[in-house]
Formats: sequence, C-alpha cells, structure tokens
Amino acid sequence: MSSTPAQSAVLVELEPVVAENLDRHLSLAKEWHPHDYIPWSEGRDFAFLGGEDWAPEHSRLDETAKAAMITNLLTEDNLPSYHREIATRFGRDGAWGTWVGRWTAEENRHGVALRDYLVVTRGVDPVALERARMDYMTLGYDSGDKTPLEAVAYVSFQELATRVSHRNTGRATGDPIADKLLARIATDENLHMVFYRDLIAAALEADPAATLSAIATELETFAMPGASAPQFRRRAAVVARAGIYDMKVHREEIVEPLLRYWEVFELTALDAAAEQARERIAAFCAELDRRIERSANR
Ligand SMILES: [Fe+2]
Ligand SMILES: [Fe+2]
Repeated sequence: MSSTPAQSAVLVELEPVVAENLDRHLSLAKEWHPHDYIPWSEGRDFAFLGGEDWAPEHSRLDETAKAAMITNLLTEDNLPSYHREIATRFGRDGAWGTWVGRWTAEENRHGVALRDYLVVTRGVDPVALERARMDYMTLGYDSGDKTPLEAVAYVSFQELATRVSHRNTGRATGDPIADKLLARIATDENLHMVFYRDLIAAALEADPAATLSAIATELETFAMPGASAPQFRRRAAVVARAGIYDMKVHREEIVEPLLRYWEVFELTALDAAAEQARERIAAFCAELDRRIERSANR
C-alpha cells in the first residue's frame, strides 16, 4: 500500500466530517441481536453428538438461495482481512479509529447471524461451508494498492452492493425468517454506505479532481470482496441468472444512485484533470450500458 503525504492529508482533512458522520451513525444505528432472528426450535444435533449429519433433503433452500447465502456469508467471514485493510488505511486514532472499531463490531454480527441461521435450519452442507471458510480466510483478502480516497470510493460502492445483495437474497430464499434477517443486515449495510458516501461528497468539495479520479478508478476496477472466495464465479453466475445481482442491478441500484447523489454530472467549474476523470466515469457508464444491452439481446 502506498500513500503519499498529500493523500494522507486528505484523511486528516476529512477527520471533522468523519466525526460528524460517526455521531450521526451512532444516533441512527439501532441495537439488534442476531439470536432473535434464528429459529432455534428447528435445531438438532449432528452425528458427532449422536444425532444425524446433514443431508441435501434437510435444506428448504433451492440452489439459487444456497449459492447466494454461501456467497454472502463467506464474504462476511473474511472480516479480519477487511479490518486490516481499513485499519491500515484509515488509522486507529481519533474519529477514524472509532469508526473502524464500530464498523468491525457491526460487520461481525452479520457473519454470526447468517451462520447460525444456516446451521440451525440445515440450509447448506455445514462441512462444505466450513471448508470453504477455512480456504477463503486462509487466502485472506487484499484490495490492492488503493489510495485512501480510492478506498473510501470503493467501500461506498461495496457497502451499497452488499446491501442490495443481502436484500435480494432474502427475497430469493422464499423463507420469511431468512428474509427478515437479511433485511435487518441490509439496513446495517445501508448505514455503512451512507457514512462513506458522505465522506466522498465532502472530498468532492475539497478536491474534485482527486475524488473524481478515485471514483472513476473504483468503477473501472470494481469487484466484490467475496470475488476471491472458492467457486465464487460459479455461484455468481447462479446469482446473476436469478437477478439477485447482475450488471443491470449494479448499474441501476449501485452506480447510478451514488453518481446521482454526488451530482457527478452536474458539478461545474472543474479543472482539466477533474473533467478528464469525469469523462472516464461517463465512458464507464456508457460501456456498462452496452454490455447490459448485449447480454439482454443474447
Ligand atoms: Fe456486512
Ligand atoms: Fe457493511
């Protein structure tokens, strides 16, 4: 990770905005408890304790719901890597440090709740799930060489993508209990997105060229954090076919609302570098539209 003094200065400059957003986050985030969302009465022992091991017919989830749930859970599981990423980039002092800690604690709840649900309801093979978790966490997650501004732009898109993916997965399960749990998790992800989104809005005022360039780079290179998980591509194809998360969802529910909120195409009095970055964003959107149209025609 390389960060020039100028880039670190951005983080210092944003600190008051971080403090403000942290206060707002803490006042809006409602306490909730993972155990409330789990149908414990459905739970029973596995063979190790004299019960019965998992069999496919125990699951009430179809293949799409299974693929989406596993992807979402593995993605949440790699939290230690994400914590390392943001703690190293944003630091552990002041409002940034408090945010990093609080965010980590909230995220951990998501993995806990999703695993409890899947194990108690026997939604997926717990042995395969545990092996996939071991592999993915051993591999870890590395977001590459992002500047702090690129990292904030990335997590704005990623938190919104995670929100939409949880929300649509809940609906796709056909299980009201899973739907309620995933809607609750999606509400957390939404608040995370709002936090980062508003930092980018402040950064756009302070340094439009650097911020627009960071947005352009993150749009061009975006991949979900779970993309390096075992068999991600196979599951992502299933999830896309079901419309839980595909290019169209990405364009309409992630890219568009954020660009609109930041008023990227309405900004005036930009210098040449900022204009150039904005043209990259416009070119990215046009290319994404072409790809969506091509895939709809197929
Ligand atoms: Fe999460
Ligand atoms: Fe989140």
